[in-house]
Amino acid sequence: MIIRIGNAIDLEPILSIEKRAFPELPWSREMINQELQENPDRNTWVTEADGNIIGYCMVRYKPGESHLINMAIEPSYQKMGVGQKLLLHILDHIPNNSSVFLEVKRGNFPAINLYLDAGFEEVAIREKYYTDGEDAIIMCLKV
Ligand SMILES: CC(C)(COP(=O)(O)OP(=O)(O)OC[C@H]1O[C@@H](n2cnc3c(N)ncnc32)[C@H](O)[C@@H]1OP(=O)(O)O)[C@@H](O)C(=O)NCCC(=O)NCCS
Repeated sequence: MIIRIGNAIDLEPILSIEKRAFPELPWSREMINQELQENPDRNTWVTEADGNIIGYCMVRYKPGESHLINMAIEPSYQKMGVGQKLLLHILDHIPNNSSVFLEVKRGNFPAINLYLDAGFEEVAIREKYYTDGEDAIIMCLKV
């Protein structure tokens, strides 16, 4: 398994995973493409197995603060430790003494467990944050 920073060439496989991981409201091609453009303020990390992308996580950086804004693992590779490896790799590459934030749906137990396992803590709730009316849990980890 290889973990690397993605680029515009990775758009199609990421879009394909995005549609299957979030069938109700996937990010659009344009949204993903924007994250993949070279920009010091953002990275899309990808995991590859046998030359195929099987997961990704998009990160935006500000001084002293990073945001994990989207993450998914190809459904046929879920629950095999891929998400945890990708997340820990990303956290290893975030500068020390900064805070990492993310939002997760209140009912998304796989993701909440993944983040809790990595040391994230719940810091706030945003009520009805998502378009389907579900609340967001804001989680934070200090690295
Ligand atoms: C959430 C997601 C990224 C987890 O990736 P993954 O590769 O399947 O997770 P891992 O196999 O690395 O599991 C790591 C930990 O996450 C938790 N977890 C993962 N899948 C879980 C499930 N189905 N139920 C409960 N906990 C789960 C567990 O704590 C697990 O640790 P354990 O194996 O020691 O129990 C993946 O399920 C996914 O892509 N989901 C759809 C998209 C999504 O919800 N993204 C997150 C948006 S905030």
